[in-house]
Amino acid sequence: MSGDTQKKLTIFDLQDKVDRGEKIFQVTAVDFPSAQLVDRSGVDCILIGDSLGMTALGYSSTVPVTMDEMIHHAKAISRAASRSILVGDLPLGAYHSSHSEAISNAMRMVKEGGADVVKIEGGEEFAATAKAVVDAGIPVMAHIGLTPQLISKLGGFRVQGKSAEAGAQLVADALALEAAGCFAIVLEAIPDRVATLITEKLRIPTIGIGAGPGCDGQNLVLHDMVGLFDRFAPKFAKKYADCWGLITKALDEFQDEVKNGQFPMKEHSFSMSDEDYAAFLDSISKK
Ligand code: KIV
Repeated sequence: MSGDTQKKLTIFDLQDKVDRGEKIFQVTAVDFPSAQLVDRSGVDCILIGDSLGMTALGYSSTVPVTMDEMIHHAKAISRAASRSILVGDLPLGAYHSSHSEAISNAMRMVKEGGADVVKIEGGEEFAATAKAVVDAGIPVMAHIGLTPQLISKLGGFRVQGKSAEAGAQLVADALALEAAGCFAIVLEAIPDRVATLITEKLRIPTIGIGAGPGCDGQNLVLHDMVGLFDRFAPKFAKKYADCWGLITKALDEFQDEVKNGQFPMKEHSFSMSDEDYAAFLDSISKK
Protein backbone atom coordinates (compact mmCIF):
# COMPACT_ATOMS: atom_id res chain seq x y z
CA MET A 1 0.00 0.00 0.00
CA SER A 2 1.25 3.51 -0.64
CA GLY A 3 0.16 6.93 0.61
CA ASP A 4 -2.37 8.41 -1.80
CA THR A 5 -1.86 12.14 -1.26
CA GLN A 6 -0.07 14.43 1.09
CA LYS A 7 -3.32 15.21 2.95
CA LYS A 8 -2.50 15.32 6.63
CA LEU A 9 -4.61 12.92 8.66
CA THR A 10 -6.28 13.93 11.92
CA ILE A 11 -7.65 11.98 14.88
CA PHE A 12 -11.13 12.32 13.32
CA ASP A 13 -9.96 10.30 10.29
CA LEU A 14 -9.22 7.39 12.65
CA GLN A 15 -12.77 7.31 13.97
CA ASP A 16 -14.09 7.65 10.38
CA LYS A 17 -12.03 4.60 9.36
CA VAL A 18 -13.46 2.55 12.21
CA ASP A 19 -16.99 3.68 11.33
CA ARG A 20 -16.38 2.52 7.74
CA GLY A 21 -15.18 -0.85 9.07
CA GLU A 22 -11.56 -0.19 8.01
CA LYS A 23 -8.49 -1.01 10.08
CA ILE A 24 -6.10 1.56 11.58
CA PHE A 25 -2.34 1.13 11.09
CA GLN A 26 0.24 2.49 13.51
CA VAL A 27 3.99 1.89 13.23
CA THR A 28 6.77 2.98 15.60
CA ALA A 29 9.60 4.85 13.85
CA VAL A 30 12.78 6.24 15.38
CA ASP A 31 14.45 8.65 12.96
CA PHE A 32 14.19 10.57 9.65
CA PRO A 33 14.56 7.68 7.16
CA SER A 34 12.38 5.24 9.09
CA ALA A 35 9.67 7.91 9.43
CA GLN A 36 9.87 8.70 5.69
CA LEU A 37 9.37 5.02 4.86
CA VAL A 38 6.46 4.68 7.26
CA ASP A 39 4.78 7.94 6.20
CA ARG A 40 5.03 7.04 2.50
CA SER A 41 3.66 3.53 3.11
CA GLY A 42 0.27 5.02 3.92
CA VAL A 43 -0.05 4.09 7.61
CA ASP A 44 -2.33 6.30 9.66
CA CYS A 45 -0.13 6.98 12.70
CA ILE A 46 3.60 7.11 13.27
CA LEU A 47 4.36 6.37 16.88
CA ILE A 48 7.39 8.21 18.22
CA GLY A 49 7.58 5.40 20.75
CA ASP A 50 9.90 5.29 23.72
CA SER A 51 10.83 1.79 22.47
CA LEU A 52 13.40 3.84 20.52
CA GLY A 53 15.37 3.64 23.78
CA MET A 54 15.94 -0.03 22.95
CA THR A 55 15.93 -0.05 19.13
CA ALA A 56 17.91 3.15 18.54
CA LEU A 57 19.75 3.93 21.79
CA GLY A 58 20.72 0.47 23.04
CA TYR A 59 19.06 0.60 26.48
CA SER A 60 17.78 -2.71 27.81
CA SER A 61 14.31 -1.24 28.44
CA THR A 62 12.37 1.99 27.94
CA VAL A 63 12.85 2.98 31.58
CA PRO A 64 15.94 5.23 31.17
CA VAL A 65 14.54 7.20 28.20
CA THR A 66 14.36 10.94 28.93
CA MET A 67 12.11 13.68 27.64
CA ASP A 68 15.12 15.30 25.91
CA GLU A 69 15.91 12.06 24.06
CA MET A 70 12.28 11.78 22.95
CA ILE A 71 12.29 15.36 21.68
CA HIS A 72 15.55 14.81 19.78
CA HIS A 73 14.04 11.84 17.89
CA ALA A 74 10.62 13.48 17.53
CA LYS A 75 12.19 16.44 15.71
CA ALA A 76 13.83 14.15 13.15
CA ILE A 77 10.64 12.12 12.69
CA SER A 78 8.43 15.18 12.31
CA ARG A 79 10.73 16.53 9.56
CA ALA A 80 10.02 13.34 7.60
CA ALA A 81 6.28 12.90 8.05
CA SER A 82 3.78 14.91 6.07
CA ARG A 83 0.74 12.64 6.08
CA SER A 84 0.54 10.40 9.14
CA ILE A 85 -0.61 11.50 12.58
CA LEU A 86 2.46 11.83 14.81
CA VAL A 87 1.93 10.28 18.23
CA GLY A 88 4.63 11.30 20.73
CA ASP A 89 5.23 9.00 23.68
CA LEU A 90 5.78 10.72 27.02
CA PRO A 91 8.52 8.68 28.75
CA LEU A 92 8.65 7.44 32.34
CA GLY A 93 8.94 10.39 34.71
CA ALA A 94 7.45 12.91 32.29
CA TYR A 95 3.89 12.83 33.64
CA HIS A 96 4.03 11.01 36.96
CA SER A 97 4.57 13.81 39.50
CA SER A 98 1.81 16.27 38.73
CA HIS A 99 -0.72 17.33 36.14
CA SER A 100 1.26 20.47 35.40
CA GLU A 101 4.35 18.34 34.67
CA ALA A 102 2.24 16.20 32.32
CA ILE A 103 0.85 19.27 30.55
CA SER A 104 4.22 20.98 30.15
CA ASN A 105 5.87 17.83 28.77
CA ALA A 106 2.94 17.22 26.42
CA MET A 107 3.34 20.83 25.24
CA ARG A 108 7.08 20.24 24.68
CA MET A 109 6.34 17.13 22.65
CA VAL A 110 3.99 19.12 20.42
CA LYS A 111 5.80 22.48 20.25
CA GLU A 112 9.44 21.29 20.13
CA GLY A 113 9.05 17.71 18.89
CA GLY A 114 6.40 18.41 16.26
CA ALA A 115 4.03 15.65 17.45
CA ASP A 116 0.29 16.03 16.84
CA VAL A 117 -0.81 14.15 19.94
CA VAL A 118 0.79 12.37 22.89
CA LYS A 119 0.59 8.86 24.33
CA ILE A 120 0.77 7.98 27.99
CA GLU A 121 0.99 4.55 29.61
CA GLY A 122 -1.20 3.52 32.53
CA GLY A 123 -4.69 2.50 33.59
CA GLU A 124 -7.46 4.28 35.48
CA GLU A 125 -4.93 5.71 37.95
CA PHE A 126 -3.75 7.90 35.04
CA ALA A 127 -7.22 8.93 33.85
CA ALA A 128 -7.06 12.28 35.70
CA THR A 129 -3.62 12.97 34.19
CA ALA A 130 -4.91 12.18 30.70
CA LYS A 131 -7.92 14.47 31.29
CA ALA A 132 -5.65 17.33 32.40
CA VAL A 133 -3.62 17.04 29.17
CA VAL A 134 -6.77 16.75 27.02
CA ASP A 135 -8.29 19.78 28.80
CA ALA A 136 -5.07 21.71 28.03
CA GLY A 137 -5.80 21.07 24.34
CA ILE A 138 -3.57 18.12 23.49
CA PRO A 139 -5.22 14.88 22.36
CA VAL A 140 -4.11 11.81 24.30
CA MET A 141 -3.73 8.21 23.16
CA ALA A 142 -3.87 5.87 26.16
CA HIS A 143 -1.83 2.64 26.52
CA ILE A 144 -2.81 -0.24 28.83
CA GLY A 145 -1.95 -3.90 29.31
CA LEU A 146 1.79 -4.44 29.09
CA THR A 147 3.09 -0.96 29.84
CA PRO A 148 6.86 -1.35 29.36
CA GLN A 149 7.72 1.73 31.46
CA LEU A 150 6.50 -0.27 34.48
CA ILE A 151 8.31 -3.57 33.80
CA SER A 152 9.70 -3.67 37.34
CA LYS A 153 6.18 -3.49 38.77
CA LEU A 154 4.86 -5.97 36.18
CA GLY A 155 7.74 -8.42 36.71
CA GLY A 156 9.09 -8.15 33.16
CA PHE A 157 7.71 -8.11 29.62
CA ARG A 158 4.70 -10.36 30.37
CA VAL A 159 1.21 -10.79 29.02
CA GLN A 160 -1.31 -8.86 31.15
CA GLY A 161 -4.98 -9.42 32.00
CA LYS A 162 -4.89 -13.21 31.98
CA SER A 163 -6.94 -13.78 35.14
CA ALA A 164 -10.63 -12.87 35.49
CA GLU A 165 -9.74 -10.12 37.93
CA ALA A 166 -6.89 -8.68 35.83
CA GLY A 167 -9.06 -8.81 32.69
CA ALA A 168 -11.87 -6.95 34.48
CA GLN A 169 -9.36 -4.32 35.65
CA LEU A 170 -8.31 -3.75 32.03
CA VAL A 171 -11.94 -3.14 31.07
CA ALA A 172 -12.26 -0.63 33.95
CA ASP A 173 -9.00 1.04 32.86
CA ALA A 174 -10.16 1.36 29.26
CA LEU A 175 -13.55 2.82 30.23
CA ALA A 176 -11.94 5.32 32.63
CA LEU A 177 -9.48 6.49 29.97
CA GLU A 178 -12.23 6.86 27.40
CA ALA A 179 -14.28 8.88 29.93
CA ALA A 180 -11.19 11.04 30.54
CA GLY A 181 -11.30 12.09 26.87
CA CYS A 182 -8.58 9.91 25.29
CA PHE A 183 -9.15 9.63 21.54
CA ALA A 184 -7.73 6.09 21.14
CA ILE A 185 -6.15 3.38 23.24
CA VAL A 186 -3.25 0.98 22.69
CA LEU A 187 -3.83 -2.51 24.07
CA GLU A 188 -0.49 -4.28 24.46
CA ALA A 189 0.05 -7.98 25.15
CA ILE A 190 -3.35 -8.95 26.49
CA PRO A 191 -5.51 -12.01 25.67
CA ASP A 192 -7.30 -11.62 22.35
CA ARG A 193 -10.74 -12.22 23.87
CA VAL A 194 -10.25 -9.50 26.45
CA ALA A 195 -9.07 -7.06 23.75
CA THR A 196 -12.08 -7.88 21.56
CA LEU A 197 -14.46 -7.29 24.45
CA ILE A 198 -12.79 -3.94 25.29
CA THR A 199 -13.05 -2.95 21.62
CA GLU A 200 -16.78 -3.74 21.66
CA LYS A 201 -17.34 -1.76 24.85
CA LEU A 202 -15.48 1.40 23.77
CA ARG A 203 -16.54 4.12 21.34
CA ILE A 204 -12.90 5.20 20.76
CA PRO A 205 -10.63 3.06 18.54
CA THR A 206 -8.44 0.35 20.05
CA ILE A 207 -5.00 -0.27 18.54
CA GLY A 208 -3.59 -3.65 19.42
CA ILE A 209 -0.05 -4.92 19.70
CA GLY A 210 -0.12 -8.52 20.83
CA ALA A 211 -3.86 -8.19 21.49
CA GLY A 212 -5.31 -10.26 18.65
CA PRO A 213 -7.28 -9.42 15.52
CA GLY A 214 -10.38 -8.03 17.26
CA CYS A 215 -8.91 -4.54 17.77
CA ASP A 216 -9.78 -1.59 15.51
CA GLY A 217 -6.15 -1.26 14.45
CA GLN A 218 -2.69 -2.79 14.78
CA ASN A 219 0.66 -1.38 15.91
CA LEU A 220 4.10 -2.83 15.18
CA VAL A 221 7.57 -1.47 15.85
CA LEU A 222 9.32 -0.95 12.49
CA HIS A 223 12.61 -2.38 13.76
CA ASP A 224 10.84 -5.60 14.82
CA MET A 225 8.84 -6.00 11.62
CA VAL A 226 11.80 -5.51 9.27
CA GLY A 227 14.30 -7.46 11.38
CA LEU A 228 16.54 -4.60 12.50
CA PHE A 229 16.61 -5.49 16.19
CA ASP A 230 18.39 -8.66 17.22
CA ARG A 231 18.19 -8.61 21.02
CA PHE A 232 14.82 -10.31 21.36
CA ALA A 233 11.66 -10.80 19.34
CA PRO A 234 8.32 -10.54 21.13
CA LYS A 235 5.89 -13.31 20.12
CA PHE A 236 3.50 -10.73 18.64
CA ALA A 237 6.10 -9.05 16.42
CA LYS A 238 5.83 -10.62 12.97
CA LYS A 239 9.04 -10.22 10.97
CA TYR A 240 8.21 -9.19 7.39
CA ALA A 241 11.83 -8.70 6.27
CA ASP A 242 15.37 -9.55 7.37
CA CYS A 243 17.16 -6.21 7.14
CA TRP A 244 19.75 -7.36 9.69
CA GLY A 245 20.73 -10.21 7.35
CA LEU A 246 20.74 -7.91 4.30
CA ILE A 247 22.97 -5.32 5.96
CA THR A 248 25.32 -7.97 7.35
CA LYS A 249 25.66 -9.44 3.84
CA ALA A 250 26.36 -5.98 2.38
CA LEU A 251 29.07 -5.31 4.98
CA ASP A 252 30.71 -8.69 4.25
CA GLU A 253 30.60 -8.07 0.49
CA PHE A 254 32.12 -4.59 0.93
CA GLN A 255 35.10 -5.99 2.81
CA ASP A 256 35.57 -8.89 0.39
CA GLU A 257 35.45 -6.59 -2.64
CA VAL A 258 37.97 -4.15 -1.18
CA LYS A 259 40.31 -7.08 -0.40
CA ASN A 260 39.87 -8.53 -3.92
CA GLY A 261 40.27 -5.21 -5.73
CA GLN A 262 36.64 -5.25 -6.94
CA PHE A 263 35.79 -2.00 -5.16
CA PRO A 264 36.18 0.87 -5.84
CA MET A 265 35.97 0.68 -9.64
CA LYS A 266 36.33 3.44 -12.22
CA GLU A 267 32.66 4.47 -11.80
CA HIS A 268 33.23 5.16 -8.08
CA SER A 269 36.41 7.22 -8.66
CA PHE A 270 37.27 10.72 -9.92
CA SER A 271 39.68 11.36 -12.78
CA MET A 272 42.26 14.01 -13.72
CA SER A 273 43.22 14.78 -17.31
CA ASP A 274 46.64 13.55 -18.60
CA GLU A 275 47.66 17.17 -19.07
CA ASP A 276 46.76 18.19 -15.52
CA TYR A 277 48.37 15.05 -14.13
CA ALA A 278 51.64 15.78 -15.97
CA ALA A 279 51.59 19.34 -14.60
CA PHE A 280 50.86 18.00 -11.14
CA LEU A 281 53.87 15.59 -11.31
CA ASP A 282 56.00 18.43 -12.55
CA SER A 283 54.90 20.71 -9.69
CA ILE A 284 55.64 18.18 -6.97
CA SER A 285 59.04 17.22 -8.50
CA LYS A 286 60.12 20.87 -8.06
CA LYS A 287 59.34 20.91 -4.33
O1 KIV B 1 7.16 2.61 22.27
C1 KIV B 1 6.45 1.92 21.50
O2 KIV B 1 6.86 1.56 20.38
C2 KIV B 1 5.12 1.55 21.99
C3 KIV B 1 4.37 0.49 21.23
C4 KIV B 1 4.93 -0.83 21.56
C5 KIV B 1 2.91 0.59 21.46
O3 KIV B 1 4.69 2.06 22.98
